[in-house]
Amino acid sequence: MQSVDRTLQVLQSDLCEVLLTDIQIQDRVRQLGQQISTDYQDSEPYLVVILNGAFLFVADLVRYIDLPVELGFMAVSSYGDSTRSTGTVRIVKDLQKDILGREVLIVEDIVDTGLTLTYLRGMLSGRQPRTLRTVSLLSKPACRQVQVPIEYCGFEIPDKFVVGYGLDFMQRYRNLPCIGVMDPTKAAAQENHT
Ligand code: IMP
Repeated sequence: MQSVDRTLQVLQSDLCEVLLTDIQIQDRVRQLGQQISTDYQDSEPYLVVILNGAFLFVADLVRYIDLPVELGFMAVSSYGDSTRSTGTVRIVKDLQKDILGREVLIVEDIVDTGLTLTYLRGMLSGRQPRTLRTVSLLSKPACRQVQVPIEYCGFEIPDKFVVGYGLDFMQRYRNLPCIGVMDPTKAAAQENHT
């Protein structure tokens, strides 16, 4: 049977650059958890997790938050299976619970054009939470089409399509522990294959 390490090595060979190692990611996620714990002390934040990309990030983040937290999950689709934003946001799965009067913290994997987060913030603020903030592991400021606040940002990265630690290309690479830049020739080959 093929080992997990071998599979991850094969997946990692489709990257042309590792931007963030698992150690760098864990260090920063711990800092974000500590900051959130300080800022929300004496309250019970409601974390709205944006699936699928934020699943690994939130799993680590909540273990660094020293507070009771509640989790709700939303799934949105904005890219289809491509590396370019279509600008169209579709809610695939909505929250099961009312957020009226709650301290809501949106948990995102990456903010690129800002279109998805702008849409989500607008929609969620209409449900009248007490506060509404965002924590995003990654941000690509050079790609922004709309300015949108990110109260807690893990890393600002360049305008490159990245995978790993929850982020995918055509639903692959989410289980890589690091974050890296997808090799454009490998990406093109996979797109042509479908
Ligand atoms: P935005 O609407 O352009 O800000 O895109 C937000 C969503 O696009 C993110 O939640 C990701 O799911 C996806 N996305 C944007 N950039 C990347 C990337 O570099 N790798 C993987 N997914 C990305």
